[in-house]
Formats: sequence, structure tokens, C-alpha cells
Amino acid sequence: MPPLSNLATRDVETLVHPYTNLARFRDTGPLVIERGQGVYVYDSDGKPYIEGMAGLWCTALGYGNEELVEAAAAQMRRLSFAHLFSGRSHDPAIELAEKLKEIAPVPISKVFFCNSGSEANDTQVKLVWYLNNALGRPNKKKIISRMKAYHGVTVVAASLTGLPANHRDFDLPLPGFLHAGCPHHYRFAHDGESEEDFATRLAAELDAMIVKEGPDSVAAFIAEPVMGAGGVIVPPKTYFEKIMPVCARHDVFMISDEVICGFGRLGTTFGCETMKFAPHSISIAKALSSAYLPIAGVMIPENMYQALLTESEKIGVFGHGFTYGGHPVAAAVALKAIEIYSRERIFEKAAERAPQFQARLKALGEHPLVGEARGLGLIGGVELVADKTSKRSFAAPHGVGARAVQFAEAEGLIVRAVLGDVLTLCPPLVISPAETDELFDRLKRALDKTLDWVRRERLAHS
Ligand SMILES: Cc1ncc(COP(=O)(O)O)c(C=O)c1O
Repeated sequence: MPPLSNLATRDVETLVHPYTNLARFRDTGPLVIERGQGVYVYDSDGKPYIEGMAGLWCTALGYGNEELVEAAAAQMRRLSFAHLFSGRSHDPAIELAEKLKEIAPVPISKVFFCNSGSEANDTQVKLVWYLNNALGRPNKKKIISRMKAYHGVTVVAASLTGLPANHRDFDLPLPGFLHAGCPHHYRFAHDGESEEDFATRLAAELDAMIVKEGPDSVAAFIAEPVMGAGGVIVPPKTYFEKIMPVCARHDVFMISDEVICGFGRLGTTFGCETMKFAPHSISIAKALSSAYLPIAGVMIPENMYQALLTESEKIGVFGHGFTYGGHPVAAAVALKAIEIYSRERIFEKAAERAPQFQARLKALGEHPLVGEARGLGLIGGVELVADKTSKRSFAAPHGVGARAVQFAEAEGLIVRAVLGDVLTLCPPLVISPAETDELFDRLKRALDKTLDWVRRERLAHS
């Protein structure tokens, strides 16, 4: 291992890095990113990389967008901070809430602003509990999520998340948080089961879970339209068509977590529009501001708003809120991002580019190391396996996904590896056709190098 640079050593001695093997990191040190332009970022040695993950599924407009910079600077000069507590307000929050109501895919009464996807989903659960208390059904409080779902890391959001690393030794999930089956046909369908039959079975299993728990105790079901951090899992055909009536039959509130899929990722403004379902409420974050500043929100339907009115009247206050929720500078940037999305037809253009992206992605499915290459819109997952026929995964300690990420970085491409050696792709929506080809050329070379390494290490693939 080469010695760490001065900056890397300072990092290792000062920072705790999220989602990092902290012990191993002390030897490897960080990849320090210094600047970005378009779909490229540059490290501290000046080396360019295609940002194949749009940061963390978020920088939809890419880097260096001067209009967003200017929107932030102008708002900072005019009013750098104001809050929304105790009836105070400011025009960027009002305007942004109006805009979100206008573009919402389902009837929305109000918007509650917060700072992260985790806070949005935490808020969703608190509001559902509030709703059922207001409606006089205090036992209807359990929340159903799904295995491999990702909804964040605060105590409640991590309980919603269906990934072992977010639960183990954190003493989670909390009681009352359940996980239904993961809608991943490649991994969980029975032999010979069609996508439609798999969807029928998952809906029947959800129904059975609600009945077993008692419909009077189940409050809500939360789902990402396409699962992201769980490994880019596109649900089987007819999934939401079959899941939604189950929720409706048991009066279960349906939350769409649009933190990744919202704002054009699947080619429509919201992911639920592509997947054709109508949730009761929606969580938004990430591309809301193209990640130029942190801002998130919960889009609230009228019946939930009525519950907030009833409860705050009874208790004397709606006792929830974050200091920086709806921060005027972040709100001004989000408004500008939405203006650019609309003016530049960013979502339509993303939809137009999706066939090229998906064709190049699916072609990787032929690679000897790839079990399944899957995706939708401008999101993709490449699952690496030790054996294509049996779908056998590599043993986790081999770190094959992490090694592939390193080979990709050597090629000048940033991708992410999530549990199960799935490489995830989620480039800025503004990626051009030529840049898309370049991204996949680099990824193909990285996979070839990973395969050579796997063979040298005798991990499989003779
Ligand atoms: C679908 C989804 N929900 C929630 C979150 C949590 O968002 P944050 O990291 O901003 O708390 C994420 C983050 O990746 C996400 O992908």
C-alpha cells in the first residue's frame, strides 16, 4: 500500500466516513474530490472521472451550473436565513411549495420541508401516527416496508430500510416495523415463475402479512418506485397494480419514497407516474435541488393535513420541525432547479436518452462476471456473480464489488458497489449520448480487469 498523502492523512485522523469499512479505510485513505464540471469531477491530482452516480443519486443537473450558483448567492445576499416555526415564513418556501403542488402527480394539500431523505421518511411515519390518533384508531400504527428497501438512517428511517447493515448492532428495526418480500425477480422468483405471477404472489404475501398482523394495527406501506441503494431493483410487471388494491382493502396509507426516482430519474417527473400508481403521500429530496444544497420534503394529502389541524388544536401546537426545514437559500435553489428542469425539458430528454443507456447497460449482461444487468430510465444495476448459471454470489469478504469500483476509478469512472456486489449507475440526467458511451466503455474495461483479478485470485471463473 503506497503511503498516504498529507491531505489523506489529515482525513484519516479527523473524519468518520459514512458507509465505509472504517478499519480498512485507515490503510486505503480517501479519494478526495476537488471540483466538478458537467458530468465530470476531478480529484486532488486533477484526474477527471465521469460521475456515474450523480454524487449519491442526486446531482441531476451535473456540476458547475451557474444559474443555481447565482440563485443561491442572490438569496443569500437578500435573506440568508429565516425559519418557518411559529407561523413565520419567507417567499422562497411559499413559492416552492406552490410549485410542488402544481407538479405533484396526485392531489397534494400542503408541503412540509426538511433537510434529508431520512428526515422526510421519519416525518412520514410521525404524520401517519398522528393521522391515526386524530382518526381515533390508536392501534393502527405498524408500518410495512420491504426487504432491501432503502429509506435512510435515522432511527425510524433505518427501521424502514430493509438492509442488514443498517440494523445489525444498532438494535434496529424498532418494534412495529415489518418488511415484506423484495420484488426482485432474478433473485426471488420461483423457478419458471413469470414476472406477473411473481407480482401476484408478492401481493398475496403482503395481504397475508397484513391479515396476520391484524388490519386494525397496520397503518402504512412505504415503497420506492424503483429500489435504489438496495441494488437497483425494478419491480416485476404488474407489481404496483397488484399491491395498491391490497393497501386500499385494508385502509393502509401508501407512501412513495421518491428520494431517488423523483425529478426525472425514470423519465417522468415522479417515479410513481412511470410505475403507474397513485400514492397518498410522497417523500422528496436529492434532485429537488440537484443536490446544490440540502433540502427535502413531504407532500401531504388533504386528509392528513386535516389531522394535523385537529391534533395541533387539541395539543396546542404541531410539535415537529427542523431549524433548517425550507431554508430560504436551499428553497431558492430548488425553485431554480425546477425552473431549469422545465425550461430545458430535462426529464423529456432523459426519457429520450434512456433507450441508449439501457441498451448499453443490458449488453453488459453478456459479460462473464455479470449475473444480471437491470435498470429503467437513467438508473442501472450490474450484479456481479461467481457463477452465471447458478447465480451464485461471491463470498462477501472477497469484496469483488469494491474491487470493481477501484478498477472503474482507475478507468476514470465513479460507480458505487452495494450489498451483493451490485454496481449501481445513476449519472446526471444531463449526460450526453457521447458521455453515456464513454461511461459504458470505461465500465466494460473495469469489468474485464475485475474478471482478470477474480481469475488470478481463483475466486471463480476459471
Ligand atoms: C430512496 C431513498 N430514501 C431515503 C434516502 C435517505 O436520504 P438521506 O441520505 O438524504 O437521508 C435515500 C438515500 O439514498 C434514498 O435513496
